[in-house]
Amino acid sequence: MFLKKVPVVKGVFFFGHALEFGRDPLNFLLKLQHENERIVQLRIVYLNVNLLLNAEDIKYVLQEHSKAFIKGRAYRVLGQILGNGMLTSHGEFWHRQRKLAQPAFYKQRLALLVDIMNDETMTMIKRWETTIEQQNGSDILAMTKEMMATTLLIVTKSLFGVSIDTNQIAHISNDIDTLNEILSVQMRTPVRFPMWIPTKVNQQFKASSNRLNAVIQEIISTRRNAIKINPEAQFDDLLQMLITAKDEDTNEQMTDKQLRDEIVTLFIAGHETTAMAMSWAMYLLSQHPEIVQKMRSESQEILGENLPNFENIRQLTYTSQVVSEVLRLYPPAWAISRQVMENQNIGEYLIPAKEQVFFSPYLLHRNKAYWTNPEEFNPDNFLPEQIKQRPSYAYLPFGGGPRLCIGNNFALMEMQIMLALLVKYFDFEKIEEVFPDPQITLKPKGNMPIKVSRLKK
Ligand code: HEM
Repeated sequence: MFLKKVPVVKGVFFFGHALEFGRDPLNFLLKLQHENERIVQLRIVYLNVNLLLNAEDIKYVLQEHSKAFIKGRAYRVLGQILGNGMLTSHGEFWHRQRKLAQPAFYKQRLALLVDIMNDETMTMIKRWETTIEQQNGSDILAMTKEMMATTLLIVTKSLFGVSIDTNQIAHISNDIDTLNEILSVQMRTPVRFPMWIPTKVNQQFKASSNRLNAVIQEIISTRRNAIKINPEAQFDDLLQMLITAKDEDTNEQMTDKQLRDEIVTLFIAGHETTAMAMSWAMYLLSQHPEIVQKMRSESQEILGENLPNFENIRQLTYTSQVVSEVLRLYPPAWAISRQVMENQNIGEYLIPAKEQVFFSPYLLHRNKAYWTNPEEFNPDNFLPEQIKQRPSYAYLPFGGGPRLCIGNNFALMEMQIMLALLVKYFDFEKIEEVFPDPQITLKPKGNMPIKVSRLKK
């Protein structure tokens, strides 16, 4: 086949598209999607980045030819915090680690986590009730903070069997915010000072990552000590699986460094994304009381006065549609990229060795070729007959192919439980316009204030 060059979008001298992209990535990309159909090439200073706009091509990269498209530069930037954990590693090493962790996310294991998700959600609800009562029936709450705290407690209890001290939670969230901000700037600008130069940013980075590492180290050493004191003790969680797993060929266990990299990956990937999705969910629901009412009726019908359990969660079909629709409009993993090691083709287009391919679920989820009225919040987009009409790769909040998010069902179940319970207790009102801030994850600008009122009985 005669291969064509990918059409190039003209950029400015030296910087290429770095400035335009850096200033307002989402609108810049939406404009490109509007003007182009399939694939276009941008230049970020010296990096050529091929933007994929078409669901079939993305399927080709993530699923059909996943071995040829590996995790490249962006994941090396992330590796400064996550090391060589499951999100950033590749090849045989990744495959072995994924196989080790996968059983912790099987259905029967997730079923055991419902109680933790219920408990932590109810603790948050009680906290909200107390503050609201003190404010005569309603209060303005910072949703990102609330959601970060609750999802952090859920993930650490579920996967590592530990509860994080409430005083520590705000510090951890601040450190994750700092790291998110610094790394997202590094991703957009290929030229940067090496870490050993003591710039202000480098020092902030080191301080935050040292504090985070101390938390992870504490989780690991607490468990190791507990095993030492009582070797017969039964710990039934992912941390134990990772600590005790032995390589099939060498019979060796993971080194401390490998263990640290996997735990920090699950710790961060396992709560920050869900917290952002939940914050956006609150924002959308605060503008759609009619949707809240429908969810409430469903919760009342399916749950009555009880908490959700693994069986009846599946019957909360409307709530599940709402979760899917939130992840369509505000996909926390808004940008995904890969790199080719050798020349590859995508259809009739040549992707030369070492170049990046990049796509954005945020764009794909707003592409008029796949969605009618894409800007509208409409949970009916996820009615079974609507899903059937779309190519499966037009909706990718959790990525796809072998590198599909390992925690997708964990996160979906968690969001469903949180939302089904929240609507039973509260009404939500929008306070101000909130804009997305596309860092590593799609965060809201500010801390997402929402007016929460006790539901009148
Ligand atoms: C709404 C919540 C979440 C979203 C939107 C999300 C999104 C994603 C996406 C898009 C990827 C693929 C990245 C790529 O292909 O480059 C991914 C991978 C991953 N996610 Fe999630 N995630 C969420 C929740 C979770 C949770 C709860 C966990 C763990 C408890 C988790 C752990 C991981 C891990 C370990 C990977 C790497 C998997 C691999 O490459 O084998 N995520 N996630």
